[in-house]
Amino acid sequence: MTTLLGIESSCDECSASVVRYTPDEIKVLSLSTFSQVDLHKPYGGVVPEIASRNHLETINPMIEQAITDSGIYAQDLDAIAVTNRPGLVGALLVGVSAAKALAYALKKPLVPVHHLEGHASSIYLRSLHPKSPIANLPPRNEIPLPLMLAIVSGGHTNLYVVKSPPEIWPLDFLKRSLVGKSRDDAAGEAFDKTAKILGFPYPGGMWIDRTAQGGNPKAFDLPRALPQKSVFDFSFSGLKTAVALTVDKLKKDNSLEENLKDLCASIQEAIVDALLSKIFLASREYGCRSLAIVGGVAANSRLRERLNSEWKSAGFVMPPFFPEMTYCTDNAAMIAAAGAFRFRQGNFMKGTEFLTLNAVANPEI
Ligand code: KG4
Ligand code: ZN
Repeated sequence: MTTLLGIESSCDECSASVVRYTPDEIKVLSLSTFSQVDLHKPYGGVVPEIASRNHLETINPMIEQAITDSGIYAQDLDAIAVTNRPGLVGALLVGVSAAKALAYALKKPLVPVHHLEGHASSIYLRSLHPKSPIANLPPRNEIPLPLMLAIVSGGHTNLYVVKSPPEIWPLDFLKRSLVGKSRDDAAGEAFDKTAKILGFPYPGGMWIDRTAQGGNPKAFDLPRALPQKSVFDFSFSGLKTAVALTVDKLKKDNSLEENLKDLCASIQEAIVDALLSKIFLASREYGCRSLAIVGGVAANSRLRERLNSEWKSAGFVMPPFFPEMTYCTDNAAMIAAAGAFRFRQGNFMKGTEFLTLNAVANPEI
């Protein structure tokens, strides 16, 4: 049994969590997250300076809350895991500094975690609450491999083929497993940017999803980039331009309002089509047997609806799984889980080794 505190501050969520690892499962004992979304809303996107200043104010309360809620003493922790890459460097530094100070004071090892390895680990988290939707996910050791893992958020649209259990992921796991990514905007960014053109507040994905309900997804002919069957990458910048031109035209005709529902449904369909076609193509190419979707865009109702009806024909042996939204969006429980896997492998820093640990905005992997 290994108990870790995880800390996440790479973007606009300030989060701390205690998880308990056993070879059978990873239980989230506590999770405390402060979302800065409302602070950044007036600016239409994340303002790095505001993010790091706010992390400074909230990091200690989040850590204290997570330890209190977990019912353990800080001294009982086996290690502290912290996101040190990639992300906004000022925001990352707040979490890294807090983690270093705490690890030094408690004389505990420190595990630096890659944020995307955290997202990849989120599918192995199990809540302590029996009524939680993720309580229904298959036990960790029963997820059929290879697994197609799609990280679909405001910052990333990455496809990974996961061939081994997390305990034996190599250090270059992310680099080795990546089979597709966006060449420009991420899928969430495509939702947010097109939503902004339509006048919705940030972040706009949820607004497009809501407004699209009952709309005609074929009403507007919007581009699907990179149609080649041998390419598993994405490109969403053309969609943004096409939506801007369409909105201009509708505004000139004074008909944006009456077409809004159909336009939202068409934008959503274009993004979901692109995601599904590349997920399915790559899964066939690599013989994937199961599928998991994580990241904020996993909340999209059309994406879920289509995946839930099309997974069988795509060759998967079980329905796709979506971790609970709390674990899909940025959170420290997934960082603690990723830290637990690395810690079990002996990949951690101890003594005074970690005092030189730095935050890295754009690492190689
Ligand atoms: O993972 P996340 O919370 O944050 C990071 O990007 O790190 O993802 C946020 C993204 C935003 O782009 C947001 O618009 C999108 O997830 N999103 C949605 C929906 N809910 C959130 N996109 C489409 N449909 C939704 N229902
Ligand atoms: Zn993230």
